[in-house]
Amino acid sequence: MAVHKEIKRIGVLTSGGDSPGMNAAIRAVVRSAIYNKLEVVGILRGYSGLIEKQFMSMQSHSVSKIISQGGTILKSSRCPEFKQKQVRALAYENLRESSIDALVVIGGDGSFRGANLLYKEFGLPVVGIPGTIDNDIYGTDFTIGYDTAINTAVSAVDKLRDTADSHNIVFFVEVMGRDAGFIALSTSIAGGAEATLIPEIPTSIDKLCEYMETERRLNKTSGIVIVSEGLEIGNAYEVAAKVKEKLPNYETRVTTLGHIQRGGSPSCNDRVLASILGHESVQALILGKSGVMVGQMQGQTVYTPFDEACNRHNEINKKWYDIARILSL
Ligand code: ADP
Ligand code: F6P
Repeated sequence: MAVHKEIKRIGVLTSGGDSPGMNAAIRAVVRSAIYNKLEVVGILRGYSGLIEKQFMSMQSHSVSKIISQGGTILKSSRCPEFKQKQVRALAYENLRESSIDALVVIGGDGSFRGANLLYKEFGLPVVGIPGTIDNDIYGTDFTIGYDTAINTAVSAVDKLRDTADSHNIVFFVEVMGRDAGFIALSTSIAGGAEATLIPEIPTSIDKLCEYMETERRLNKTSGIVIVSEGLEIGNAYEVAAKVKEKLPNYETRVTTLGHIQRGGSPSCNDRVLASILGHESVQALILGKSGVMVGQMQGQTVYTPFDEACNRHNEINKKWYDIARILSL
């Protein structure tokens, strides 16, 4: 396949919240680029490194043994100043000065908004790879890091269940997801939770208490309530306190899983997904595609324009929510 004539050197960066598998994606970008006789420059700390010109040349050995490591060797950041046009102009100038003529951005929809502006304002060839534990990106069945995160969360829930059972406790377990309930719903089904609270299906404390008091549930000695972050009725501590007020006989505890969900060695699925998408992102640039995110849908590589990937969201399967309720009886 002929290399697109304008592209000789590709930059790669990771941006936004890190996710397990980002390193596998970096490795795939670097090795696929080298295979296609392109040079690769690693940009450190996401858009912050782009404006501060923190660049490093990458060779095949630069990505040795990183496929199994969590985090990102390129480091990541939130860079609010990238929303200013003059800051993006500086970033583009830095790329030009270093003869970087295309960019691969690994991150979530916020990162793609920045990438889309670089593409639209300066005509820079940019391709995105969905890397976030939240799984909320439109244009891919799964995002890199989601599989590892749900496995981390479910293993924590299994452990909490042991102590919940021993002490007849109801645990309120808060999981991440920004404003999406993917992590909560999968963790709930796989962890056999008694109740699931997700932003997509609003509920009230009254309804939750009523649900917890159904006769069959009362025969249980312990309970796990999975609480997604970002709920209107409050965080796990607030929900637990309000439940305790209404049902004082319940012994309750709260555990917030937090950033533990973002770390750890990526699962096999995340490594495979990251490797495929890393490779496909380089292919996309070579084929002259730009302003798109590469995803996998039903085993096929799909290119979604940033405009769509940024403004639409993956929807949870609401049927799964009903199934979780049935199975928790
Ligand atoms: P994620 O990529 O995981 O969604 P963020 O929403 O924090 O994470 O976005 C990551 C970075 O992308 C931000 O810190 C900022 O540098 C850049 N970004 C986000 N939104 C925009 C925007 N509207 N315009 C330009 N850059 C943006
Ligand atoms: O987008 C990934 C994510 O981990 C979300 O699930 C969470 O809401 C957010 O990032 C946390 O961000 P920070 O690390 O900046 O607190």
